Amino acid sequence: MMDLELLSKNFDAADPVLNQLAEIEKICFGKDAWSRNMLLSSIRQPATRIWTVKDIQTSKILAYGVLYLAGDEGDIANIAVLPSYRRMGAGSLLLDTMLQQAKSERACSVYLEVRQSNTPAIHLYLSRGFEEAGKRKNYYKNPREDALLMVKTVLPL
Ligand SMILES: CC(C)(COP(=O)(O)OP(=O)(O)OC[C@H]1O[C@@H](n2cnc3c(N)ncnc32)[C@H](O)[C@@H]1OP(=O)(O)O)[C@@H](O)C(=O)NCCC(=O)NCCS
Repeated sequence: MMDLELLSKNFDAADPVLNQLAEIEKICFGKDAWSRNMLLSSIRQPATRIWTVKDIQTSKILAYGVLYLAGDEGDIANIAVLPSYRRMGAGSLLLDTMLQQAKSERACSVYLEVRQSNTPAIHLYLSRGFEEAGKRKNYYKNPREDALLMVKTVLPL
């Protein structure tokens, strides 16, 4: 069973959740991973919403997602699920939750960038109605790769 939680803006830098998120980053993104400090400053940005998914039995965070909101646009900056928990619905749970949040905070469209070789993520986004909206040349480093820009129109609640 999984438990969803929205991190608070008053998040304490000493909170052990921060180390867990940094660990998930390292495992999922290697050299491209966000550091502990990058995560902390992101959490504190007024425009950022960070959702975590916990394994209820172990209380361990198994996945998290980052949404930015600006005006009537949302941007899904990150979704990461620990390898041993993949294909169990955590990625879709996060994506659905962030789309719902974007709607409830008046977004009309939600964007994201994804490595063009990242088949699992692209399938996930297509399954939720995202469409290709363009390419960003050499968007990623480590290794260098183009990004697909994807967008989904949402109707505000
Ligand atoms: C992409 C990622 C977030 C998916 O998370 P997940 O929890 O495994 O996803 P779900 O179990 O909710 O899967 C939902 C759908 O996504 C697609 N999908 C997920 N993994 C897939 C894979 N390996 N191959 C093909 N499609 C896949 C399927 O359509 C799947 O539905 P199905 O299981 O009914 O077939 C996860 O693989 C991950 O963390 N990858 C590393 C980090 C990353 O690349 N993040 C995205 C950055 S833009």
